[in-house]
Amino acid sequence: MRIVATDRDPSLWSGDALVLFIIEGKMDPLDQLGEETAPLVKQKASRLGFTGKEDSLLVVDTPGGTVGSVYLAGLGSADGATPDPWRRGIALAVRQAGKDRNKRIMALPGGAATPEVHSALAEGALLSEYSFERYKSGPDPSEKPEPIEELLVHGGDERSLARGSLNAIAQNFARDLVNEPGNVINPATLAEKARKMAEDSGIEFTLLDEKKMKDLGMNGIISVGGGSHTPPRLIHMVYRPSGDPSGKIAFVGKGLTFDSGGLNIKPGDSMRSMKGDKTGACNVIAIMKAVSELKPDLEVHGFAGMAENMPGGGAYRPDDIIRMLNGKTVEVDNTDAEGRIVLGDVLAYASRQEPAVMIDMATLTGACAVALGPYTAGIFGNDAALAASFREASGRTGERVWELPMDDERLKKKIRSEVADVVNSGGRYGGAITAAMFLREFVGEGIKWLHVDIAGVDSSDEEYGYYRKGATGFGVRTCLEWMEKYDKH
Ligand code: BES
Ligand code: MN
Ligand code: ZN
Repeated sequence: MRIVATDRDPSLWSGDALVLFIIEGKMDPLDQLGEETAPLVKQKASRLGFTGKEDSLLVVDTPGGTVGSVYLAGLGSADGATPDPWRRGIALAVRQAGKDRNKRIMALPGGAATPEVHSALAEGALLSEYSFERYKSGPDPSEKPEPIEELLVHGGDERSLARGSLNAIAQNFARDLVNEPGNVINPATLAEKARKMAEDSGIEFTLLDEKKMKDLGMNGIISVGGGSHTPPRLIHMVYRPSGDPSGKIAFVGKGLTFDSGGLNIKPGDSMRSMKGDKTGACNVIAIMKAVSELKPDLEVHGFAGMAENMPGGGAYRPDDIIRMLNGKTVEVDNTDAEGRIVLGDVLAYASRQEPAVMIDMATLTGACAVALGPYTAGIFGNDAALAASFREASGRTGERVWELPMDDERLKKKIRSEVADVVNSGGRYGGAITAAMFLREFVGEGIKWLHVDIAGVDSSDEEYGYYRKGATGFGVRTCLEWMEKYDKH
């Protein structure tokens, strides 16, 4: 899909469909349609009770007009400045255009629309177009919607559209990696995909194989990967700006290419979807690709720890005591709490670069999804301002986050161990928080750190807005959005 800014008069444009955006109860954008079409559309809207509710779409065929159809996308009762309703609105319109075989559509966001809204339109359009079909034999062509060729954004500026496109392409790249199943993507093949991305994008790339990690003393990630035929990998990617960097930041991702639970094996229902346990790592790979194009003044590091948690003969066991890279020891209570063990080593390794800020993303705990539901990620950290700036960024991207507290000293005792420095599971209650507290043990002194628990939000079980069933790539856009503001501060 080409996305192009235009100033052409929509009433004279002879494309396939116009898309208008309606704040609930305010039908005045319809006046842009001209005297012939506007009354027709108004009539149909009132007959069908379309008022502009969020996530609603009205399709009106306008056979007499210069375009064949008009789509009205509801923005809900928001003030029209929050970008996410626009993102979802254009997503619905683009999908409808695919079904209607409309190839050229023009979005009319109106003169008051901000650059953020223009970016959001590009994002929503490209995100909604995403599908993962490479393993499906050709569908019945009469059932398959056809992708639109061109989206014109009236009054849009190319810069905002390009920025939105870049965000969406990065997020779709993450979705593509995550949707690949465990028999295709393992630690080695995911590392290969990252290497290819890095080579194509001019990103520095270092691979640590299992031997190198053993030599360094990364016994956490090595233990977790022990039960698999495909040994663990750690990748370290770096973007360096051409001039002196204005700061240094790091993104860290959990990359469990499959999480069976290990010897504490998951029941079948919970094991389903565990190909998605690599989302944090895939997000980091996608972010680095986007960073190579955004070219911030920052030095940006991306780390991803990849392992497959399997119950093979070499598997680590409950009761094991592991000495981690930073010297701390971990008693294994439950081999299914593997993500924090992998990340503990990766966070300690990343800390050696002494970034000012370190943000990790991990599908870490079912408890987080229980606490916040499947549409909101948990954030945790050691710096209130960092958490606040991330939350602000999330308000612009529509990727909901909510902070959970890290100051409950009594709860912290749950990860105390009789035989080691910490135990890897703090039990059910407050499970997302005790997991975050575990990670905190491996963050280097003086580093501002934020942990994003994306368990639950990493995949969608329904089509909604710009999401489809499957991987969401949740977190990619918020990290990029956060980085842009951090870069400028
Ligand atoms: N990868 C899972 C967490 C998860 C659950 C992600 C559901 C996405 C959806 C993680 O490794 C895990 O198994 N966590 C355990 C921790 C427990 C054993 C302390 C959990 O959440 O049950
Ligand atoms: Mn697990
Ligand atoms: Zn896991």
